[in-house]
Amino acid sequence: MSFYTTTPIYYVNAQPHLGHAYTTIAADVLARHHRQLGEDVFFLSGTDEHGEPVAQAAEALGISPRELADRNAARFEAMMPLIEASNDCFIRTSDPRHVAAVQEFMQGLHDSGHIYKGEYEGLYCPRCADFKTPQEVGEGETCPVHGIPLDHEKEENWFFRLSEFQEPLEQLFAERPDFVRPKERRNEALSFIKGGLQDISCSRAGLTWGVPVPWDPDQVFYVWFDALLNYITALKFAKEGEDLTSRYWPATVQLVGKDILKFHAVYWPAMLMAAGLEVQQTLVVHGYLLMDGEKMSKSLGNVLDPFEVIDRFGADALRFYLLREVQFGADGSVSTAGFESRYSTELANDYGNLASRTVAMVGRWRDGNVAAVELDAEIAKELEPLADEVAELLGKVEPTHALEAVWVRVRRLNRYVEETAPWNLAKDEAEAERLDQVLATLVEGLRCVTVALYPFIPSSTTKLLDTLGRPDISWSAAKFDRSGPGGSVTPLEPLFPKP
Ligand code: MSP
Repeated sequence: MSFYTTTPIYYVNAQPHLGHAYTTIAADVLARHHRQLGEDVFFLSGTDEHGEPVAQAAEALGISPRELADRNAARFEAMMPLIEASNDCFIRTSDPRHVAAVQEFMQGLHDSGHIYKGEYEGLYCPRCADFKTPQEVGEGETCPVHGIPLDHEKEENWFFRLSEFQEPLEQLFAERPDFVRPKERRNEALSFIKGGLQDISCSRAGLTWGVPVPWDPDQVFYVWFDALLNYITALKFAKEGEDLTSRYWPATVQLVGKDILKFHAVYWPAMLMAAGLEVQQTLVVHGYLLMDGEKMSKSLGNVLDPFEVIDRFGADALRFYLLREVQFGADGSVSTAGFESRYSTELANDYGNLASRTVAMVGRWRDGNVAAVELDAEIAKELEPLADEVAELLGKVEPTHALEAVWVRVRRLNRYVEETAPWNLAKDEAEAERLDQVLATLVEGLRCVTVALYPFIPSSTTKLLDTLGRPDISWSAAKFDRSGPGGSVTPLEPLFPKP
């Protein structure tokens, strides 16, 4: 079974910030989990390099768009390993192979009559690179996203017959109620469609930084057409000498922030339908990370630097915090104080200490050997359903709920330590068997929550599983084995030391 997941491709008009890391981390959790399930996974991320957002930012800096794109694309690409993203490909839309594939796709739409020449007159936000419909225009003809005055655009350009897809799109939404998730976002996209779809410009006349329209070289494609196509063009060239399209398309889960819903839930499926391709299986939409109550964004200047956070706390802590703190799908606030508190109460205390003391107790009283004994039935009952629960929640792209399901067990194991007080059992020879059972139960419980946490915090879980002498991260290993396989553990450094 194949699993293909994507992030939006990020604009290179500025450096990466936490919002970009957020979507990428969420996609990475899915990719790692589906690899655990033994599926054939492809995970794509990359940069969106053309169009006005980049051309204008470059002009303001007095450099060429290509220079700015190269500079910032390198920063986005460098962010991937830092946040432990295991993407299989990083696409840049300035890549000539992408450019050629966009031209080929759009030529096909032109040849099949989906594109015609017309005149655009209306309001346009150069920061969103978005032609606003009357319902989308803010007060005083401003952009509701950026608060800047919208440009009056009047130009001759090429139009995509989006209106022809009104019915097919309505039908798609009716037949596949989970096509867009969560439900509020689905309803928002559907009401946009039901409001009546107008044909849209798919080229720009006054811009040179973009993919040239092959049949009209005075124009470049409107950046969203060029950008959306990355999800299929990458498959053509990601692997030398092999076209991966039939292996991975349609994408299983496309992840986006709510700011770009319309493009992914309306324009993109329409483009695919026009080309006779299957539409993506699901579009999962998350909310905004907020700081001081506002969307974190480079244009507003309220950004938290993911690189600094990783420097102090490590990538695992950042990954954990973002998916734990902000209910996936909703908006949520993040802060440095919030990081520190989750880090010390949950990662260092709840989980890190559970690991340290379990390993230390087995070391101290059993020379690191875990007895092969039947495990405690009460804990078995609570731990056994975990693997299925997490798989179901991650299958529905609910990482925050999945983490909570794991955390319930982490807390339960900590209570188990307190209840059984192994330090007292260790003092009494008559309790030797019970101590064996308690320690073996703790090791197995810890191992299971750790396999389940692997997609979220890959480095520390891998380290801990090595210590537990059971490095298998495949999903079958996430199952609690009450028969008590035994084994041995080796000493462990604190997983989440004080920063
Ligand atoms: N280039 C377009 C997307 C093209 S996809 C074919 C774009 N780029 S962007 O750099 O502005 O990044 C947008 C994405 O970054 C959002 O959809 C979201 O996934 C993520 N985020 C940017 N800021 C964010 C927050 N403050 N909070 C959460 N996610 C945010 O739009």
